[in-house]
Amino acid sequence: MVMTEEAFDVVVVGSCMTDLVSQATRLPKEGETIHGHKFFIGFGGKGANQCIQAARLGAKTAMVCKVGKDFFGDNYLQNFKDNGIHTEFVGQTSVAATGAASIMVNDAGQNAIVIVAGANLVLGSEELQQALPAIRRAKVLVCQLEISPGTSLRALRMAQENNVRTIFNPAPAIAALDPDFYRASDIFCCNESEAELLMGWSVTSVEEAGRTGRELLKRGCGAAIITLGPQGCVVLAAQEPSSPAHHVPTTAVKAVDTTGAGDSFIGALAFYVAHYPTMPLKEMARRANQVAGVSVQTVGTQTSYPSKKDLPADLF
Ligand code: RIB
Repeated sequence: MVMTEEAFDVVVVGSCMTDLVSQATRLPKEGETIHGHKFFIGFGGKGANQCIQAARLGAKTAMVCKVGKDFFGDNYLQNFKDNGIHTEFVGQTSVAATGAASIMVNDAGQNAIVIVAGANLVLGSEELQQALPAIRRAKVLVCQLEISPGTSLRALRMAQENNVRTIFNPAPAIAALDPDFYRASDIFCCNESEAELLMGWSVTSVEEAGRTGRELLKRGCGAAIITLGPQGCVVLAAQEPSSPAHHVPTTAVKAVDTTGAGDSFIGALAFYVAHYPTMPLKEMARRANQVAGVSVQTVGTQTSYPSKKDLPADLF
């Protein structure tokens, strides 16, 4: 049923992947074969992960994406429905298979991922045009880089032209990012490794993240967040390159699987931007850190994302 008159809190234009996850004591070296101790298949892809996390916190969400006309694509569609996500803009194509991610997770909870984007790369202007009524009415639009960068940039621009707030997560990062992405991002949110690729300098400390954030503001973002794993994140909220960098620490937790923790953070951030638009960005980031901190304590990607009922009331 076509219901494009609906207004959504969060619209995500992004990716879906089937996650093929192997757990092993450690990650293999180049050319090496090692034994793992567990294998499972899950729902992933940065765009879908972010959408699911926002929905589990209570956001009314819609996903704009493309999956294959195959078993994995059919399952993914059902997964969105099971999570209460609007699927009018979830297309299926016979041109390419549903995206897949081969993921290895070690005993320290760290991972290495190879994605084959497949059907995600078929999402283009035509689909964006169909989703325009939903994008136009959204409170927040979220994009990443697992679909064609041109499609992400067009979606961000469409949102800005309609006064919809944009969150851009440049993941996986590309060194030669089109500079227009910075100007199209009301909030630009990246992790340490993405920041290093974009900046060309090391980003491991709070100080280096602060320098990165100032450079991101100079490049045109409205606000910048650099996530630093267990060190929390650094937030630069004002549009002034000279504005102070706020370090938002996080509570120490025992991580068993960090896969998709960044997506949990962004999905939560999108929820807070939509539901509490006047809340200071550093407070939104503090709360999003808490949500992502819960996700790393359970194995899997979307399976580890908490719902509102699982979280302390003071996060809402
Ligand atoms: O960010 C984690 C996600 O990256 C995984 O779900 C995988 O699908 C890849 O897209």
